[in-house]
Parts: sequence; structure tokens; C-alpha cells
Amino acid sequence: MLSTIRVSLPQQSYEIAIAPQALDELGAKMQPLNLGKKVLLVSNPTVFEHYGERAIATLAAAGFEVVSCILPDGEQYKSLQTIQTIYDTALENRIERSSTMVALGGGVIGDMTGFAAATWLRGINFVQVPTSLLAMVDASIGGKTGVNHPQGKNLIGAFYQPRLVLIDPLVLETLPPREFRAGMAEVIKYGVIWDADLFAQLERSPQLDRLQDLPAGLLQEILVRSCQSKADVVAKDEKEAGLRAILNYGHTIGHAIESLTGYETLIHGEAVAIGMVAASRIALEMGMWLPECHARQLALIEKTGLPVGLPPGLEIEAIIDTLKLDKKVKAGRVRFILPTDLGTVTISDRVSPDIIRKVLL
Ligand code: NAD
Ligand code: GLY
Repeated sequence: MLSTIRVSLPQQSYEIAIAPQALDELGAKMQPLNLGKKVLLVSNPTVFEHYGERAIATLAAAGFEVVSCILPDGEQYKSLQTIQTIYDTALENRIERSSTMVALGGGVIGDMTGFAAATWLRGINFVQVPTSLLAMVDASIGGKTGVNHPQGKNLIGAFYQPRLVLIDPLVLETLPPREFRAGMAEVIKYGVIWDADLFAQLERSPQLDRLQDLPAGLLQEILVRSCQSKADVVAKDEKEAGLRAILNYGHTIGHAIESLTGYETLIHGEAVAIGMVAASRIALEMGMWLPECHARQLALIEKTGLPVGLPPGLEIEAIIDTLKLDKKVKAGRVRFILPTDLGTVTISDRVSPDIIRKVLL
């Protein structure tokens, strides 16, 4: 069953195609988009071992000339140094203005490939084939591309939209379970910030922590509704002038925790889960949403097997200090995304350090 979602943007709209076995249709899907003849396929050894050959076969069958660039696996390699490897491969293989870079991997590969595509020859075509749940529902859509600076995550980047996002849910079968749960944190996020029906659907599922045990059809529904939520928000505010910031629900405290634990103890979605629980408690303290809503969100996060409290040894004052360095700080005030009802959030810079201390205790 093929589901198609359009990301409607003023300069370049594109399609998110979601279907089992879609990976084998990659070449055919790209063919009508006028993407040149040469493809630079960027991946990492983990993903390439599983899906590289199939990706190359479908591209070759559609007439593309494919060269591969395999980068090391891991967030620690999301750097300008690694981007240089993509540029070097592009140079050696004469990747031209009309050529296309294809990202086959999780969010790390997607963000780096997008950034390389945005900057190589001042911008060439780029296609996202996300293979982690987090990349499928979030990172591959909306055009945020970039790399980390040694002093901070995602500090270097560009808004640069893909020409196509192709999602094959079957590739999730090889995704480590912990990575699946981390992706589910972003799915729950959409339920809270935008799509109350998605939230209710997740609540009805007897379990959410293992891909294999999801009720039939739920995975496709999760992908479609999450991608639709992201497409809706990005279409309204492509460059994050306002609304798009709501996608950072759970990320304010989440990022501080990731940064303080050296990006090693927790993976991104786990930190976001803890951040969503903290934001929910803040909203509760400020009388912005109901205890019942807080309890429902907490139950859903726990059912997904995600952490809900701070990892041991983390100082609350260190979190408060780190929040001041957040990219979302505006005029010295930390901005929080706070829930007001299931499916609705608001942006607030009125959260006092005392409230943060209270909810994190
Ligand atoms: P990741 O890319 O590191 O992937 C997680 C792990 O899963 C990796 O080891 C990867 O090799 C492996 N993997 C991926 N797909 C697999 C598959 N099908 N089978 C087996 N293994 C597989 O991490 P992620 O969670 O996908 O993405 C996190 C990154 O995304 C971060 O760098 C974050 O900043 C970025 N991000 C970007 C956006 C955006 O809007 N651009 C949004 C959210 C996150
Ligand atoms: N993941 C946040 C955004 O795309 O804006």
C-alpha cells in the first residue's frame, strides 16, 4: 500500500512516498524528477551492508550511474571532516550540478548528505531514503541539514530541501530495538503537539516498545500521520520564523541532558522523552494543562519503554546553566514548548529557573 504526502513549499515542493518494498522502487521514483544521470549514494557500513546493493540495483535499472560514499557510523562522525570525504568522492567521480546525492541511512547520514548536497557546486539535487524510524518521521523531512561543531550539536548547517523522501517501512526490521524506541519518542511528540488522533491511536495499542508486536497497520499509520504532521508544520513555516519551533517539544531540556552526558549515555529520542516529561510537568506547574493529560503522556512514554527521569549523577544547576547556551535562547530567555492540550502546544519564554528546579527534582 503506497501512501503519498506532499510537502508544499513556495520554492520547491516534494513528495514523501511510504510503502513496503519502496526501496526497490527508488530508481523508478527518481526517474521522472529530472535528477541527472549520476548519483552519489551516501551511506554507512551498517546500513549499506543491509540495503546498499538493493539501492544500487534499483538506481542502475532506472539508468542512473551510481558511485557510493561510505562514511563511518556514528554521531561523532557528523562533522565537517566527514563532509570533506563526500566532497572528495564527488570530485573524484565528477559529480556535476545536474547530479544527485542520495542519503541512505539514519538522521546522521541524512543531515550530512543534505549539507554536502547544499554546498557542493553551490547546491545539487538530493534525495532522502531514511532507514531509522527517527529519520523517517522527522530528520529526512523539512530541509534541516548540517553537522556538529566540536562545541555544539548542529551548529553548522543550511536549510536545503530534498527532491524526494522515500520510506520503506520494512527496512526497520534490522533497526536495533533501542533505536526504534527512540524514534517512537518523536512519534509521541507529534501526538502531543499536533495530532491528538495519533496520540489516541498510540494509546489504544497494547504495546509500543517493539516493532514486531505493533498491531497490523499501525506502523504505516504512525509513519503517515507523523510525516503529515511534519509536512504541515514545515509548509507553514519552512525556515522556523515561528511555528516550526513547536517541533522542538521536549528538546530544550533534552538537548541539555544530551550535552551534559556527552551524547553517550542517552540517544537523542531518549533525551527527548525525558524532556517531554519535564515540559509536561512545567506546563502542569504553570497551570497550563491538566493533570490527566500529563498522566496520559507519561503512560504512553512508559509504555514505549523510554526513560522518563534524569540519568543518575546529573546536577540540576548544570542543566539550568546549559539551557542558557541553547540555540533556542532569544534575548537571553530560554524558550520552552509547553503543551496546553493533547494536540496543542504553545511557545513560552516565561519559565523560571525555580520551576525548572522543581520539576527536575
Ligand atoms: P543514526 O543516523 O545515528 O542512526 C542510528 C543507528 O541506527 C546507526 O547506528 C545507524 O547506522 C543504524 N541504522 C539506521 N537505519 C538502520 C536500519 N534500517 N537497520 C540497521 N541499522 C540502522 O541516528 P538517527 O536517530 O537516525 O538520527 C539522529 C540524527 O538525526 C542526529 O544527528 C540528529 O541531530 C539528526 N536529526 C535531524 C533532524 C532534522 O530535522 N534534520 C531531526 C531530528 C534529528
Ligand atoms: N526536527 C526539528 C525541525 O525539523 O524543525
